[in-house]
Amino acid sequence: MKYIKISILIVAFLAVGRFSVKAHEGMWIPSLIKMFLSDMQADGLKLSAEDIYAVNKSSLKDAIVHFGGGCTAEVISDQGLILTNHHCGFSQIQSHSSLENDYLKNGFWAKTQADELVNPGLTATFIVRIEDVTRKILQDIDESTDPGKRAQLVSERITALKEQVESVEKGHTAEIKPFFYGNEYYMVVTQTYRDVRLVGAPPSAVGKFGGDTDNWMWPRHTGDFSIFRIYSGKDGKPSDYSKDNIPYKPKHSLPINITGSKPGDFTMIYGFPGTTQQYLHSSWVQFVTETMNPTAIAMRASTLEIIDAAMASSDEIRIQYASKQARIANYWKKWIGENRGLARLDAISKKEKLEAVYEKKIMENASLEPVYGDVFKKIATSNAEGKALMMARSMLIEFFYVGPEFLRFVSGFEKLEENAEELDKAGELEDELDRLRQSAEGFFKNYQPWVDQKILGVLYPQYIKALNPKFRPDIHAEIEVKYGDDFNEYAEYVFEESNFVTRKQTLDFLNKFKASKAKKISADPAFQLMKSVLGAWREKAANSYYAWKGENDELMRKYVKGMMNAFPGEKYWPDANGTLRISWGKIEGSEPRDGVIYNPYTTLDGVLAKYVPSDREFDLPDRLMELAKEKDYGRWAYNGELPVCFTASNHTTGGNSGSPVLNGEGHLIGINFDRSWESTMSDIMYDPERCRNIIVDIRYVMFIIDKYAGASHLIDELNIVDRR
Ligand code: ARG
Ligand code: GLU
Repeated sequence: MKYIKISILIVAFLAVGRFSVKAHEGMWIPSLIKMFLSDMQADGLKLSAEDIYAVNKSSLKDAIVHFGGGCTAEVISDQGLILTNHHCGFSQIQSHSSLENDYLKNGFWAKTQADELVNPGLTATFIVRIEDVTRKILQDIDESTDPGKRAQLVSERITALKEQVESVEKGHTAEIKPFFYGNEYYMVVTQTYRDVRLVGAPPSAVGKFGGDTDNWMWPRHTGDFSIFRIYSGKDGKPSDYSKDNIPYKPKHSLPINITGSKPGDFTMIYGFPGTTQQYLHSSWVQFVTETMNPTAIAMRASTLEIIDAAMASSDEIRIQYASKQARIANYWKKWIGENRGLARLDAISKKEKLEAVYEKKIMENASLEPVYGDVFKKIATSNAEGKALMMARSMLIEFFYVGPEFLRFVSGFEKLEENAEELDKAGELEDELDRLRQSAEGFFKNYQPWVDQKILGVLYPQYIKALNPKFRPDIHAEIEVKYGDDFNEYAEYVFEESNFVTRKQTLDFLNKFKASKAKKISADPAFQLMKSVLGAWREKAANSYYAWKGENDELMRKYVKGMMNAFPGEKYWPDANGTLRISWGKIEGSEPRDGVIYNPYTTLDGVLAKYVPSDREFDLPDRLMELAKEKDYGRWAYNGELPVCFTASNHTTGGNSGSPVLNGEGHLIGINFDRSWESTMSDIMYDPERCRNIIVDIRYVMFIIDKYAGASHLIDELNIVDRR
């Protein structure tokens, strides 16, 4: 009997995939390139380690930009021209748009550099170098170190190292981040440019073609790109906006390759993936899929229903809400896909099996067992305890940060409400009022109180229901007494009585404000709700949440360390954490569902096939239709067709949007902008069979710039490789 048990165990072990990474799984640290270079070369990479990442000479990394801290962009000309996604530049495009100059609808193309549009606050960050500083940070710290002491030492050393590096390297920023939950630390030294101007954007009917219906979907036909230019001071260094600034001279800019590629060709993505959670414990995956995701999905669906109807009712509201709507809809749909994908992978039971294998291996090892043996039980307990706290945090995000917008706006009045007299005495009252006036001008430009009122009425009860009663805002007791469960009536009351829900009221209030009137803010129902919601988080949940999170992370650190010790031969990649990474794969389609095969390419014919006149998502510009009818593709065609999008097996996540997709020679062949819906669980569990990233083909981008927009002066700036 014994051998049967063992063989069952071995089979189970193989079936669940061990701990090893799967083909093309992973987001790897560029400075450790030697660790995975030969794997990439075996898949078709032609470059050396130095070509990809080098510190003292130029390399591919010098063309990669962290765009506004959230997306990726890449340098494509020696005059600082960069490419990213339309959806990454969306809020900038929107901010320059008005009914007269509707760049969202019509696109925007700067005819000369003088026409390029300034974007206050937008940054472009380059990586100077990445250094493993684990030994500096964890010196003399081991598993016997008290966790509190450990956290304190680590935080002190991070601060000291950061200060030391930044004091020597003027103009650079040093960030030291934990990897593998703090088993390793890396220092990322960066340089940030602060004058980044909008150069070009296609109309939304190209850049966002397919809208939310096609978002996260394959087959895709979206020209999701926009063009910006980085400017520097005359000395080439970062500078705030000035009309004397000059186009940035990059260390490297990417050649654009239009020769054409075929399925199976090597692809590499170089960019800034935001967050993955591959090591989550099964109990937490269960919580995410059964509680957290469904609650957030339902809340966003309610908000979207209101916003979508409002947007359909007028062009003005369509423009005002476009960017907000896209932001809310994006993760709403992503989580739906993630839940389905995790269910199909049977992720929870797969994880349970893996955890059992790992626990057994630890238990059998005399030196590991005393240190790591109890980590599983402790994680399960900690996770059970953490759920209510995590819901308090996630609901704060969904209600306060994603829900009714006036909450965020009136939170700006906290300082005035608390310190009016002090500000007045210090002669700073007028400054504070000015700040609020400016904030009001920005806020009300894109605001409809009646839309927000509806959102409040619908979202508030969902928020309350999702919270453990002990984390509810105090104000809820009063609301219940007065309004029972008619939360629309409560919302009506807030919007009728508040001083801060229209531009005029707010500015009148600020203009007439006297320090002695601060109580009027305290008595405002919008302010009161905001205060109570934030207060519930700050006073009832935040401390416990952060304490729990610290302990949970420390357990996860031990979990990962124990696993690495138990299976030392495997390669491990650290979860995405917003730092520069490389992932590679090849151009390939997939078989996402029974009976369905995804071809990896789409063409302009497919764009036309989706055309629905005057549709919000599937309308097309006349000019594009004409070019298509005449097959006027210029040099951008391939075998008589115009490629539009393609898929590849690169492991990517949010933040990889705008990332360059490079061929084996390091030439740009596309811009990453999405994953297929069947892939979105790859943030928690990667599936090599199904996970595909979605890329806009560089030839479609060139076609739109050149033939559609007639911006051939931009094409002249580029280095185009065509080996046909
Ligand atoms: N899903 C892509 C990403 O995560 C694209 C989002 C923008 N497009 C949209 N239709 N909302 O960011
Ligand atoms: N669209 C995502 C982004 O903005 C990338 C898609 C993904 O999550 O893979 O970063």
